[in-house]
Amino acid sequence: MFLWGTATASYQIEGAATEDGRGASVWDTFTRQPGRVRDGHTGDVACDHYHRWSEDVTLLAGLGVNSYRFSISWPRVQPDGRGPVNERGLDFYDRLVDALCAEGIVPAATLFHWDLPQALEDRGGWLARDTAHRLADYTAVVAERLADRVPLWITLNEPFVHMAFGYGLGTHAPGHTLFMDALPVAHHQLLGHGLAVQALRTAGAERVLLTNNCTPVWPASASPEDARAAEAYDTLHNRLFNDPVLLGSYPDLSAYELDGIDAVRDGDLEIIAQPLDGLGVNYYTPTRIAAPSGTLPLPWEDAGVTGHPTTAFGWPVVPDGLRELLVGLRARYGDALPPVYVTENGCSLADEPGPDGVVDDQARVAFLDGHIRALGAAMAEGVDVRGYYVWSLLDNFEWAEGFTQRFGLVHVDFPTQKRTPKASYHWLRDHITTRPAPWNGD
Ligand code: FCB
Repeated sequence: MFLWGTATASYQIEGAATEDGRGASVWDTFTRQPGRVRDGHTGDVACDHYHRWSEDVTLLAGLGVNSYRFSISWPRVQPDGRGPVNERGLDFYDRLVDALCAEGIVPAATLFHWDLPQALEDRGGWLARDTAHRLADYTAVVAERLADRVPLWITLNEPFVHMAFGYGLGTHAPGHTLFMDALPVAHHQLLGHGLAVQALRTAGAERVLLTNNCTPVWPASASPEDARAAEAYDTLHNRLFNDPVLLGSYPDLSAYELDGIDAVRDGDLEIIAQPLDGLGVNYYTPTRIAAPSGTLPLPWEDAGVTGHPTTAFGWPVVPDGLRELLVGLRARYGDALPPVYVTENGCSLADEPGPDGVVDDQARVAFLDGHIRALGAAMAEGVDVRGYYVWSLLDNFEWAEGFTQRFGLVHVDFPTQKRTPKASYHWLRDHITTRPAPWNGD
């Protein structure tokens, strides 16, 4: 059964930031620092999903999806990131999972979607090797409670983005600006992934995935300098997080004048490279890379993709990039590539209800149609794709952009929390009803 779903993340939708024993996360801290998030927005209330989860499950059922990807808030389950477990936090996910199962919707749970307990950040966060072990302990707690009903598990969401924005550039929590010195964060997250896989297997989890943000990388010109910079970027963005997991080795970073990852210890790669049941791939847009001009201490420069329509975020819309990406992964990894799940794909638009109350997001309909066709094309070219999750079910807290970027199939009026399904919600429902799997025909 091909899985059609939508995806969300705890900090982006739940709110109830101090309720029922939830501890603070790095995002609670970050959003309180002036100038970090647009308009000073926070996830304190977000979509109030912690209280409105039942209404949101009804929206999923109405959409007709057979799966839903959500993330579990680590500080809700373990307020200090280690030690005592907060049963009330686990109870929330228990209720959600039961409600999904009652609707015949397969729950897909992400264990870490960036909301690290602040208490662990105080002990070094992902710069500290110990955090990997803490992730494994927390995973064991969650899996013991939910693995009997949650068949699909995702250990980490986009470790590249968390490293690059959270520790490299400082635009996401915890806000460090270490540039290339952020590399140990890659290794510690991947080690945490491997240890979490072990904990999930022990708990009898059916299917275990890692979700990476992947992008096709295009050199800005035919010059050897741009080609080399593009290769460096591809290595850092894509291969650094896929190679160790799928091939059991890190790519050679020395070729790009980057330091090797000195945090690696004997035996780590065996833990990281345990077999997976799937690779989660999040795709939004391709990346065009030029040789560095020296503005930032990085061995490349983003040259920007031109000649395509853009979303409200300014991200170029390139549906065929999804086909190119998946076919490229298959070519690079061959039989080492497990089945692929597109665990996020979507676009932000300036959606507002019209005078008739309708949110007519035809650009999102075109976006989804184009990308689902590209997925069908990749499958026709031999890529084994098992699922497609739209980011996102609801308009939500879009990290550094606060509530200004609307990605939902359902519009949320934040002051009233009123949910209004958009035209794309109705389109996707009809699409799913008539097609069991993506294809690129008429
Ligand atoms: C991805 C994140 C997700 C969301 C989308 C737009 O990188 O995983 O939480 O913010 O981008």
